[in-house]
Amino acid sequence: MKPLAPFILSLLFLTSQTVLSFKREEFRNCHQTPFCKRARSRYPGACTLTPHSISISNGDLTATLLSKTDEQIRPLILSLSVYQDGILRLKIDEDYNHPDPPAPKRRFQVPDVVLPEFESNKLWLQRLSTETVDGESSPSTVVYLSDGYDAVLRHDPFEIYIRDKKSGNQKLISLNSHQLFDFEQLRVKQEKQDSDNNEDSGSDDNWEERFRSHTDTRPYGPQSISFDVSFYNAEFVSGIPEHATSLALKPTRGPGVEKDSEPYRLFNLDVFEYLNESPFGLYGSIPLMISHGKEGRSAGFFWLNAAEMQIDVLGDGWDAEYGIELVKQKSIDTFWMSEAGIVDAFFFVGPGPKDVVKQYTSVTGRPSMPQLFSIAYHQCRWNYRDEEDVENVDAKFDEHDIPYDVLWLDIEHTDGKRYFTWDPVLFPNPEEMQKKLAAKGRHMVTIVDPHIKRDDSFRVHKEATEKGYYVRDASGKDFDGWCWPGSSSYLDMVNPEIRSWWGDKFSYENYVGSTPSLYIWNDMNEPSVFNGPEVSMPRDALHHGDIEHRELHNAYGYYFHMATSNGLLKRGVGNDRPFVLSRAFFPGSQRYGSVWTGDNTADWDHLRVSVPMILTLGLSGISFSGADVGGFFGNPEPELLVRWYQLGAFYPFFRAHAHQDTKRREPWLFGYNFSIYSIQLCLALFLYIFGHEGIEQGGHS
Ligand code: NOJ
Repeated sequence: MKPLAPFILSLLFLTSQTVLSFKREEFRNCHQTPFCKRARSRYPGACTLTPHSISISNGDLTATLLSKTDEQIRPLILSLSVYQDGILRLKIDEDYNHPDPPAPKRRFQVPDVVLPEFESNKLWLQRLSTETVDGESSPSTVVYLSDGYDAVLRHDPFEIYIRDKKSGNQKLISLNSHQLFDFEQLRVKQEKQDSDNNEDSGSDDNWEERFRSHTDTRPYGPQSISFDVSFYNAEFVSGIPEHATSLALKPTRGPGVEKDSEPYRLFNLDVFEYLNESPFGLYGSIPLMISHGKEGRSAGFFWLNAAEMQIDVLGDGWDAEYGIELVKQKSIDTFWMSEAGIVDAFFFVGPGPKDVVKQYTSVTGRPSMPQLFSIAYHQCRWNYRDEEDVENVDAKFDEHDIPYDVLWLDIEHTDGKRYFTWDPVLFPNPEEMQKKLAAKGRHMVTIVDPHIKRDDSFRVHKEATEKGYYVRDASGKDFDGWCWPGSSSYLDMVNPEIRSWWGDKFSYENYVGSTPSLYIWNDMNEPSVFNGPEVSMPRDALHHGDIEHRELHNAYGYYFHMATSNGLLKRGVGNDRPFVLSRAFFPGSQRYGSVWTGDNTADWDHLRVSVPMILTLGLSGISFSGADVGGFFGNPEPELLVRWYQLGAFYPFFRAHAHQDTKRREPWLFGYNFSIYSIQLCLALFLYIFGHEGIEQGGHS
């Protein structure tokens, strides 16, 4: 036993290190998130809404949803629209014309994601028919969706589903079949009444939420939305990136699932040393779920909503705990909860997984065609120290005859983390440096983050302050948070005027030292705020049009990516195709460039989980993605690094990257073992390049 003891001890030490380094306590779990906790405690059958005044208006089905039990609730307005390829869109929002009590403001509906071309593919409804479906006591309104499918609005209890005409009207996908739907309406705090009467106004945490040292003021009270969605005849469901977990999503509630298990969280976060098997939210969010069933049958559901979302996958028999016997077609049931926004949901009929992806990307856009160089190998490190280091690394690739196309500079290349600048001592001749690389057909990428150093001598900050371009805190002052440069403010990218101004910063005139072979990396755009709640921006911070940050949080990084990408287009890059890598993402990000899976770790589990993470991104429209080859944190042993290169050659985006505290690991530093494996690497690279020939031939415009 003795010789094994040190081995076991060090194994235990290493395991505990990995587990301890993820700071779970910095992030809220569902129990600490009031809207999630409330939603999860709802019972099937709780929803008492029924549709009234069903009619056609502007080519859509519209109805008013009224509660059977609570007259205090403002009516909700429901609309169903039908688009080409059998796509059904459901919207539910407050009735803003209702006087008593009126809604205090409009809820946020995410703009700039749905393609205008898609909107123009709407099929104008001509007629609705009413029927009583076999075995049901209440009537339903039926809408023609396509030759194969109908959309059905059942009246009581209210339910929406798509039925497959070719399989005897079996259900394909439905919403609110278990009557878990809930829509918390905006309110205005009335000091006196609310402090006197906690029954009516809800408990204190309805108006104010505390987490660690942070207080969220919540001026409109709770405003969450939740509902169940069922996928029929499905074997498993996948999608909803980004989580470090398997492709087939595991049940988060139901028989055999631990009591305190968490839902899948969609909340863009900068998570330090994330776990390799977890439903915790990471850097990006795409609320798209795809079901897969026998004979390759798939369907999809997409909720366009940018607020925090939590999603439960309900295991078989989940309803047994409520003592309710639900006689039903076999389905995978899921439960969706969002902190704010509206219901703007899309149903995709498939029938195959490819069709679902096609239908989803007809709504949110196809991936942009990448620049040819960007699908080759990228060499990155935090940080290549100076121009001499860059020159040496570049020369060594040639010396060892290892193919590479792009060299990256992380935050240390700037003058004091002021983006668009260069450290005058370490990088005094940036143009010359890029030109030397360009002479060999190589490119450079520099990092530009969204936090702007609050330094009056920094031109970008001065202009942004004068123009009022920053996100404001709840008191109306420019939000001031802590990030790499220290005290920083964040541009309000939801405003198109600010995005256009930002885009201008990439002109050769404004970005002094940049050349046409320079491209951009957007990091920390969740946004990451080191001293903010959950390392991000407070939810009560205010954006253009008084949108609360909680309403658009998950889209912040998307807007930043969009503004940067459009900036490069304005600058006029070769082939008119920008390359911008982003850490945060949202539906539609595929139109603006690539993404990577953030700060992974140099261990075998992270190598393994990178595969389902990248596949899930691909299924969700983001086909150009990768993981840090070698692992960002820690030092990979030679075999792990070699294996990672072998796998990475097949990532659509293939970049080696490492934390500044790690040992140098350029591929020639690993001696004999590595050289043997490098034969396999070359083979893999060959296959990779060969596999992309189609793009080379057909892609260049
Ligand atoms: C966090 C990013 O995920 C990482 O890739 C980068 O090296 C550091 N920020 C420093 O910029």
